[in-house]
Amino acid sequence: MRVLWVTNDLPPRAGGIEQFVGNLLARVHPSSTLVLGPAPSDPAEAQLHDRAQRYRTQRASGRVLPTPGVRRQVVALARAHRAEVIVLGASWPLGELAPALTRELDVPVVALSHGLEAGLPGVGLGVLVRRATRGLAALTTISDFTEAQLAPHVRAERLARIPPGVDVDRFHPGVDGAALRAEWDIPASASLVGTVSRLVRRKGQDRLVELWPEIRRRHPKAWLVLVGEGPLADVLDRAIVVQGPQAQIRRVGRAGWDLLPACYAAMDVFAMPCRTRLAGTDVEGLGIVYLEAQATGIPAIAGRSGGAPETVRDGRTGSVVDGDDRDAIVSAIDSWLSDEAARRAAGRAGRQWVTASWSWPAIADRFADLLDEVVGEHTTGG
Ligand code: GDD
Repeated sequence: MRVLWVTNDLPPRAGGIEQFVGNLLARVHPSSTLVLGPAPSDPAEAQLHDRAQRYRTQRASGRVLPTPGVRRQVVALARAHRAEVIVLGASWPLGELAPALTRELDVPVVALSHGLEAGLPGVGLGVLVRRATRGLAALTTISDFTEAQLAPHVRAERLARIPPGVDVDRFHPGVDGAALRAEWDIPASASLVGTVSRLVRRKGQDRLVELWPEIRRRHPKAWLVLVGEGPLADVLDRAIVVQGPQAQIRRVGRAGWDLLPACYAAMDVFAMPCRTRLAGTDVEGLGIVYLEAQATGIPAIAGRSGGAPETVRDGRTGSVVDGDDRDAIVSAIDSWLSDEAARRAAGRAGRQWVTASWSWPAIADRFADLLDEVVGEHTTGG
């Protein structure tokens, strides 16, 4: 099947949508896919990345948003590629292009949705969801939470559950994180709590830093590592400095894609106590990081925000806490750090849970089936 993807979120940039889109691209009709992606911040890195893929990538001159210029570019690419279906990496705002694309090209348009779209209806912006989905043959959703938020407003012909998955052959309990831990200059004997994510308030790294002295009082050998980059970096650095040289916190910046599995393998407990902010518009759609952590065999502490609780089996593969409740976060970290046998059991259960329910080949197959159905229906006028 000849597919044209249009996305503003594309690796090598790090992030959930990028990871999601990158995996679908690599697994669903890669050799007959063309991608229109955003101009990269590091062109050399992007060129290396793009050349290594089985799909072809064309980089736009800026961001890929629903502007007249992008629409013209998409129409020209779709014609040249003889696309049978167009996939939008995110329904909002790119879905605004769908009615015009369907009209001009006579091909169905499918769009993915994430956490952002699900935050819109709660603040009276359901109209944006309606506008962005009215030309779609299908809209995909990532969790029960996002689907419940979106469903009353969706105008797409159909809704399909396609969550992001995990490559369980890359993220597995056999990965050795010892070398990376040494590189981070964290003692081999330390208990290591860690998080991997963009540094933004929703993800809760600020809470982890703030309550870390309390954890250290209970577990003097515990260290905290924060992987990722983002706008909160300076705030976090200042909060760490205030705790003095004995803080036992490392902020290690962005990890390369290849190093990600080792990041989790270096940790004993994963914690990202995310919280919903800004009247519900800043909400976790799902949280791939929890799945990656569990696939690697460590317990994951998730925040009660949006679809994040759906990624963890509370008490069995990790914990779900209120990201605004400092005592609850401390207590969850404390209890996992205090019980090595429980950690190991949770690691095994988490691995099983992710392998059974969230692993990539099965999810990618469902997406391929969805494209088949949509194209088939379009062709037969159904
Ligand atoms: N290489 C690298 N380096 N990857 C990173 C880094 C880093 O420093 N920091 C985070 N990542 C990766 C994680 O490993 C994970 O694969 C992804 O970026 C983060 O995904 P999510 O945990 O899902 O969060 P998000 O806020 O970026 O993603 C949004 O879209 C997702 C997919 O729909 C949110 O809406 C999520 O809730 C949703 O799951």
